[in-house]
Amino acid sequence: MWGGRYEGTGPDELFRAANDSLPIDWRIVQQDIRGSIAWAGALCACGVLSTSEHGQLVDALEALSEEAKTIPHPPVESGAEDVHTWVEQKLVEKLGSLGKKLHTGRSRNDQVATDFRLWTRDAVAEVRRVTVSVAKALATKAEAHSTDAFPAYTHLQPAQPVPFGHWCLAYVEMLERDVLRLDGALSRINVSPLGSGALAGTGYAIDREALAKELGFASASRNSLDAVSDRDFAVETLSVLSQLAVHLSRLAEDLIIYTSDEFRLVRLDDGVTSGSSLMPQKRNPDSLEVIRGACGSILGAQVSLLVTMKGLPLAYNKDMQFDKKPVFEAVDLTLVVLRLAERTISGMTLNADRAKVRASAGYANATDVADLLVAAGVPFREAHDRVGQLVRRAEKLGTPIESLDEKDLSELVPELDVASIRKLTVENVLSRRSAKGGSSPACVLAEAKAALLRLESL
Ligand code: ARG
Repeated sequence: MWGGRYEGTGPDELFRAANDSLPIDWRIVQQDIRGSIAWAGALCACGVLSTSEHGQLVDALEALSEEAKTIPHPPVESGAEDVHTWVEQKLVEKLGSLGKKLHTGRSRNDQVATDFRLWTRDAVAEVRRVTVSVAKALATKAEAHSTDAFPAYTHLQPAQPVPFGHWCLAYVEMLERDVLRLDGALSRINVSPLGSGALAGTGYAIDREALAKELGFASASRNSLDAVSDRDFAVETLSVLSQLAVHLSRLAEDLIIYTSDEFRLVRLDDGVTSGSSLMPQKRNPDSLEVIRGACGSILGAQVSLLVTMKGLPLAYNKDMQFDKKPVFEAVDLTLVVLRLAERTISGMTLNADRAKVRASAGYANATDVADLLVAAGVPFREAHDRVGQLVRRAEKLGTPIESLDEKDLSELVPELDVASIRKLTVENVLSRRSAKGGSSPACVLAEAKAALLRLESL
């Protein structure tokens, strides 16, 4: 491919093994062929190829696309350095010297940047689709559990009761923002570098905007040096996947805690748990641990690409060949964990009775007693202190606040009538928080329905 300048016997075997990228970039073969078909059209439009030459090239490239679909593994026996070389080699095999005309005015530098953007665009669309499905699974659960009390925690200590649906909807919010971030990334991925040449642009009269449209890009890049030498679209994609993975990892961690025998708030279905080879009683939440564990590799992929890019002089450098593997791996893994999350969430069941007991325990209505005192004119800080004493008393007696006897109540909170304290059951506490974004069952049900509608149109 670049042999003209060379005298010797060709590249050293050791060097070739390290330098060849076909084993990895074989995955973008369809994008390379698609870009080549568009490039042939652009060369024909500016008179470099005749209509008949153009027709022959397109036919051969379309046939090659079909042939490539039947090759499951990278065809390393071809000896091609990378996927671009493989496509060219095949074209020359089929068409002789006409095959050698396609590379006019083009470089592998603008070619690979184009192919990689085409691949990443499709990958982001698929990740987006499955992310919406996971959010739908959560919103469906939220709708089903808008009234079921659940203990919510801060510092992993019982804090206040919320409906289980409120927990589900928290993750719906996170995933929806991830979808918006994917859209943002997509708008920057969807710019065509084709026609930037090796670094300086092309001397042929290519209509780059028309070429970009042909490939479904929103526009053509504005600076050839930038277009061939940056990979920020890939870094940004990995960054969005990292944030998404962190959300899924926290969801997994929550559920690992809630499904543990100590908590027993949620149960996973058998299909996503596994036993132990030694301990017959075990039922481990492996699906959740896989989701949490995958996050490490996805974050690692982002760091890997950032470090590859850091300190590279403009324009293209071979270091950049290390750009694809982290993206391929992170996308593959993200799709696996998203699908697993959807399956795990759809199959899980809430242990509603125990959740209600736990939601009522731990003095989770203490804040509500303080609120009653505030309504009776006591400043909040003082109310906080007095209810603290109330909790201490109740704890000593081993009883919930609302069951303390009248004597204790009238001594510590004389402003309140006992009946109003007796009413602070978990159901009543839940329904109080009805301001926007709050956790009253009515809010949760309305938000679940609204989320399902929004997700339908995402
Ligand atoms: N295989 C290369 C890559 O993935 C293609 C670009 C090669 N360009 C070059 N000037 N050697 O980065």
